[in-house]
Amino acid sequence: MKVIFFIFAFVACTSAGSLPSFIHPCSASDKNLNECIQNVIAVAGPKFADGIPELGIAPLDPVQLRTVQVNNPALKITFTDTVVTGLRGFRVNSYKINPDKGKASLDFTANVTLKAHYDMDGQILILPIKGNGNAKIKITNLNILVKYDFDTVDGHWIVTNHKDSYKMDHAQFKFTNLFNGNKELSQTTEKFTNENWEIIMQEIAPPAIKQIIKSCIDVVQKLFGAVPANELITQ
Ligand SMILES: *[C@@H]1O[C@H](CO)[C@@H](O)[C@H](O)[C@H]1NC(C)=O
Repeated sequence: MKVIFFIFAFVACTSAGSLPSFIHPCSASDKNLNECIQNVIAVAGPKFADGIPELGIAPLDPVQLRTVQVNNPALKITFTDTVVTGLRGFRVNSYKINPDKGKASLDFTANVTLKAHYDMDGQILILPIKGNGNAKIKITNLNILVKYDFDTVDGHWIVTNHKDSYKMDHAQFKFTNLFNGNKELSQTTEKFTNENWEIIMQEIAPPAIKQIIKSCIDVVQKLFGAVPANELITQ
């Protein structure tokens, strides 16, 4: 009786399977391990975008960034209640892993929209810009490359370090209530910001995209914490 109980308990524990059903793990011996994982990420990504409450994983679409601060001497912008949508539709360009060295990289592209309340004061090139209201920034083909180092601790991977870089094809702005709603000034300014989107994104992108990437890394850390490494890549 006791023996049966222990066998049952053992089976129950080892097959408790924290691995979400939509992740089909790749085998470490797979000759095309990179492509296999790239495919797993492409399939599982949209599920992660919804969040996985059982694993404590917050949604990535929409992802809440809260406050994003641009603190350039010439231009101050505070975005509050910042929400980014669109990560769900991401495209994986490549994934590379070197399990022995504990290094991996993910390159992906998404069209994202950032919505927030903004408070802005300063100048862009020589044009003064000022206002507070609602901001909407559409980024076309935001391409993010994340390189990360990982370690195995108690059978689980942890991300120990990461580096990122990004580029984009285009950004489009919509600001309500520029210059207290002065129509003529705000139309001119909005036209100007959209013609000079690269200059403005040089200021906004670093703090905003850093937070987007941090949210993605948080999700990966939660997944690694919840699911043992040998269930993510089988031996
Ligand atoms: C983003 O949108 C552009 C144009 O609307 C489209 O060509 C491109 O394929 C989209 N990118 C992704 C990753 O969906």
